[in-house]
Amino acid sequence: MLKGKHILLGITGSIAAYKAAVLVRLLSKVGAEVKVLMTPMAKQFITPLTMATLSKHSILVDFYNPENGDWNNHVSLGEWADYYLIAPATANTLAKMAVGAADNLLLTSYLSARCSVIVAPAMDVAMFKHPATQANLEMLRNNGVSIIQPGSGELASGLEGEGRMEEPENIVGFIEKMEELSSKKKTLAGIKVLITAGPTYEAIDPVRFICNYSSGKMGYALAEEAALRGAEVTLISGPTHLPSPKNSHIKLVPVTSAAEMLQASERAFDNADIAICCAAVADFTPVEAVGEKIKRENSEFQLLLKPTSDIAAALGKKKKTGQYLIGFALETEDEIANAKKKIHKKNLDFIVLNSLNDKGAGFGGDTNKITLLYNDGQQMNFELKLKSEVAGDIINAIECLMINKK
Ligand code: C5P
Repeated sequence: MLKGKHILLGITGSIAAYKAAVLVRLLSKVGAEVKVLMTPMAKQFITPLTMATLSKHSILVDFYNPENGDWNNHVSLGEWADYYLIAPATANTLAKMAVGAADNLLLTSYLSARCSVIVAPAMDVAMFKHPATQANLEMLRNNGVSIIQPGSGELASGLEGEGRMEEPENIVGFIEKMEELSSKKKTLAGIKVLITAGPTYEAIDPVRFICNYSSGKMGYALAEEAALRGAEVTLISGPTHLPSPKNSHIKLVPVTSAAEMLQASERAFDNADIAICCAAVADFTPVEAVGEKIKRENSEFQLLLKPTSDIAAALGKKKKTGQYLIGFALETEDEIANAKKKIHKKNLDFIVLNSLNDKGAGFGGDTNKITLLYNDGQQMNFELKLKSEVAGDIINAIECLMINKK
């Protein structure tokens, strides 16, 4: 993955600097070329001789070489690099990066870098948790810097907690993953995708609601995959515990109830090329949401429910030529037959069936096992996979349909 890639490694003054030697070894092993920049303080923790020997390049610390006046050009360094990794990154360097200070070569190179910048923070737990450090990290994140979260454990201070720089193997894995994602072909460039995800909450009274076990993970993975392939994604999500997607090509539209999800979906569908109804929409909602909290009485209580509108079916009715509509079916019995009925009822191009009888499939977990059922009777079975991989299979299937219809 990283063969032939240029990696600029910035080392700052932290005890974790010793791990930078292993980092250079691992990066060289996978075929990357590494040039090392150090802050003056970093030289106290690991010698330039060690780093120069391992990276096979002289180490850059100052703006110029006082012996012969040679200028270390931070602009050309920034242009040379495919990735600028700062590991370890101290609280001080992170703070300076956040405000754009440029009082050493490592920082000026950051300001002139046009490549992806990654930081692996290393510091004491209290420094890491300090609101100032967290605000700086947030600012860097908003400026597009990727942050490799430090791990928890024993720290050089003797304290225990968050602040340990991530292990070199995992840092290399992180960059490899970035490379894999950025080299993904933009097969959905210019395509608008609508995805519904998560559960819906149907209010019973001001404090209670009807819900289900949907985590939203499958829908969010689909949004991520479509955006990585260049699509503009509208992710209409019921309440979940998932972090908001970071990809700027994903527009998150948070909704609560099935009625709200229907309204947002119908609005977005007019402009969509593809709609994937992945949400576990509540099938029933209370006939009326009581305005005050229902009191407990010592007698039976009956809640009257009415069916919600079927969002997928509503979109199916509006579907025009050139639009693709995909649904999901989570079944517990007669899976195939039940799922097939829904393809026609909802006017879907295909339905993604996951069975609660399959171990590792369905709600909550990180894996899923799916079968695709098409409106022409075709069927495709897949192995148990990570939801991110399942998302890739589903989007591949949609791309195949689009290519065949061209
Ligand atoms: O009919 P059933 O709920 O099993 O169908 C599941 C499919 O229909 C999923 O794609 C789900 O997102 C969608 N659906 C919907 N609106 C509903 C119920 C289900 O869009 N009210």
